[in-house]
Amino acid sequence: MAKVKKNGEQKKEWRKAVKSAMLKATEQESKDRLGDVEPSFNYRWEHVVSVVKLSTKLARLTGADVEVVEAAAWLHDVRKEARGDHPKEGAKLARKLLAQTDFPSAKIEHVAKCIEQHMGLWRDKPLTDLESMVLWDADKLAKIGLTAAFHWTGSALAGSKLRDMNDLIERARSVDWHRKTVASMHTKPARRAAKARLKAYNALWHELEAELKGDDLFNRNK
Ligand SMILES: [Fe+2]
Ligand SMILES: [Fe+2]
Repeated sequence: MAKVKKNGEQKKEWRKAVKSAMLKATEQESKDRLGDVEPSFNYRWEHVVSVVKLSTKLARLTGADVEVVEAAAWLHDVRKEARGDHPKEGAKLARKLLAQTDFPSAKIEHVAKCIEQHMGLWRDKPLTDLESMVLWDADKLAKIGLTAAFHWTGSALAGSKLRDMNDLIERARSVDWHRKTVASMHTKPARRAAKARLKAYNALWHELEAELKGDDLFNRNK
């Protein structure tokens, strides 16, 4: 890995270091879940890349510190195997890892705080730190809408957990936390996008049901 000088010391480039740590963690997670089977689709990596894209865009839209948000987004699920403790454990790893890189030392604690606070699919009490809000919103945006529909459908079908397409629709509609997630969004752009994503999710199942029933043979616009 390329090294750069910081305070006279050789340090790793932070973006390369966090990406490589995260990729390794997602590959381990897939292996633990699927045994020795080579995963054809690395869900966690796909999720993290999408959280990085969403959170950096959202940071620019809201005036948050892009560097803090990006580092936190790359590492927020790095200790996912620790389940309920993964935000705390992820924050610990981030502190250690970022200190070995050229990432600004003064911002490391802020990155750790964002990671520590990203838990929960909805919140009763909103967060107050802007960068933490941005990471939370981006992480949840990546779990709702069409993205959620395709991620969940893929794994549900692959695991043969469904009887038929009607079962798929029924289960997709029985998810009740999406609405709470939308209502918990902190930032304006994320709340707007979350509402649109939920609308698209509901419309998808509606259209699929119409296809299965043949309702689309009739002019539904009348
Ligand atoms: Fe997480
Ligand atoms: Fe996540």
